[in-house]
Order: sequence, then structure tokens, then C-alpha cells
Amino acid sequence: MHSSSSVLVGLACLQGAHAWGALGHATVAYVAQNFVDAEVKTWAQGVLGDTSTSYLANIASWADTYRTTTAGKWSAPLHFIDAEDNPPSSCSVDYDRDCGSSGCSISAIANYTQRAGDSRLSKANKAEALKFLVHFLGDVTQPLHDEALELGGNGIKVTFDGHSGDNLHSDWDTYIPQKLVGGSSLADALSWATTLTTDIKTGSYANLKASWIEGDDVSSAITSATRWAADANAFVCTVVMPDGVAALQEDDLYPTYYNGVISTVELQIAKGGYRLANWLNKIYAKDIASGAASKRSPEALPDLTGADLLPAPRPLSKLKLARAAMGGSCGNHNH
Ligand SMILES: *[C@@H]1O[C@H](CO)[C@@H](O)[C@H](O)[C@H]1NC(C)=O
Ligand SMILES: [Zn+2]
Repeated sequence: MHSSSSVLVGLACLQGAHAWGALGHATVAYVAQNFVDAEVKTWAQGVLGDTSTSYLANIASWADTYRTTTAGKWSAPLHFIDAEDNPPSSCSVDYDRDCGSSGCSISAIANYTQRAGDSRLSKANKAEALKFLVHFLGDVTQPLHDEALELGGNGIKVTFDGHSGDNLHSDWDTYIPQKLVGGSSLADALSWATTLTTDIKTGSYANLKASWIEGDDVSSAITSATRWAADANAFVCTVVMPDGVAALQEDDLYPTYYNGVISTVELQIAKGGYRLANWLNKIYAKDIASGAASKRSPEALPDLTGADLLPAPRPLSKLKLARAAMGGSCGNHNH
């Protein structure tokens, strides 16, 4: 029998391996590139030092690589929020209940929203902030990044397309999107993004897109990002596991389950890209175009560590203790 701690370490490795896979993140980034204002593109290219046509797609999965390094281990909890709801009967996200004491995707989005446009930070700090934003606005639209149950589904063993060793989280992150698109290269992402962009501009999403960004406000980033997380978390009850966990383990998830969820996967990727563009446009308008950042006096330095953004300290729940026990990432546990 495995000890429970070795099981937890194993789950930590699975969680560390993916997060919308490279395909999903690059697609979110390419969609966003199609909707950012021209001056936002120039600004982002300057901060990132990349004037190529893939300037956001190139860095979209940087955060997933970084979290697996010794230096970046601290950032692992920022890829998700462990909503302690009760799917499939009840889904919800509550920032004060669900964001861990070392932060979560929502506090991170608020933190890097503040930092990306702040001229007092170095170019490297601003680039870090942009890279995290491009990634986390993708993660937050993946329903299982907004769910505590079985560590965001990492603990739910399923079979997908003949692969019996899969878990539900990585199928949603990686294998379901790859099944649709047929690959995971940047060229695959670009092609998927081109289709989704047309859907947003003139197709099936044309009438929905305004609702995706309704109320988004970079000055209330916690509120905005909590709304995004709750929007994605609701799909855990309605689409990801409407009949509970055991029902997912009866058959291969391909093709019946896949056919039932794939339109939600596409919707969430498109939504993530469209939101990201709007968010970057708003950061630019507030902090850069207005010159607000350069007019700030050095004496009025706010707390840019983001510590003030975290929820109030409280005792850790059992689920949060389990997350904490498994540490941030793979590769560092066997010393
Ligand atoms: C904000 O970002 C800085 C730089 O990456 C980091 O050191 C700090 O822990 C972050 N704070 C939060 C609350 O995420
Ligand atoms: Zn991630």
C-alpha cells in the first residue's frame, strides 16, 4: 500500500505538468493578439523584447515551466483557486473561502495587473507581470482550475481515447483540446485561434462576447477575476461532471463525453483570449496612455508585493492542508 504522502506527491507532479496545455495557452494568446489595440501591441512587444508575430503566444506557457524550477516553486499555487464547493449539486467560488493563504489565481491576477503598468518597476518585473497575466487569464477559464474536488480533478482516474492512465484534469488541460486540433505546435494554436477569432467577430460568439467582459475593471481586479473563476467553475456542475465522479469512470471519455464537452472547451479558450485582450487594453489605458504611472510620486509607493490583496488569514481547511502538504511542484521532493 502507498502511504498517503506518496500519493499526494504523485498528484503534485500531475498538477505541475499541465495547465491548459501549451496548445490552449498559445491559442488564448493568439486570440488576444487579434483584439489588442495597436498601441498595446507595441507596448507589450517592447516590454517582452519580442517584435515577432507570436509575441504573446511565445510566452504563454512560461509560467508552467517556471513553476517546476527551484526558483519558481513559490508560484505553483497561483495557477488555480481551489473552490471548496460541492459539485455536481452546488458550484461556487468565494474568494475569502477559497484563495489559499499563499495566494491563488485571483490574487495573482490582481497583483500582476497592478505591476504590469507600474513604471517604477524594472522592465524585467513588468515582463514577468505580463507573462503571468497572459498565462493566468487562460488558466482561470479552465473549469478544473477553479475546483478543489480531487485537487482539481487530478485525483480522478479516467480513460480517454484508449489511454487508461489519464486523469480528468490533464484531459481537460491537454488531451481533449489536442484531440480537437490534432497537434500542439504554435502553428496548430495559430490555426485554432484564427477560427475562434472569426467566431468572435462574426460567428457564434459575436452576440456573446460583450457578456464575457461585462463589468471588467482593472481597478477592481479581485472582483473581476472572481467573476471569471465563478463563470468557469459553474461548468464543473453542468458540463465537467454533471452526473458526479463515478459516472466519468464507467466508459472511455471518447467519444461520448468528448462530444458533450468540446464546445465548452472552445468557448472557454475563445473567452480567455478575448478577455485577455480587453484586460491588457484597460491596463494600458489606465496606467500607460494616461501617463498615470510616471506622475506618481516616489514617496507614495504602494505595497507592490500584493500582500494587501490576499484574503484574511484563517485556519486551513483539510483540502488546503492537502495542497500545502504536497508542495509546489515536481522534481524537488527527492532530495
Ligand atoms: C506579487 O508579485 C511579486 C513579484 O512576482 C511576488 O513577489 C509577490 O509574492 C506577489 N504577490 C502576490 C500576492 O501574488
Ligand atoms: Zn498554469
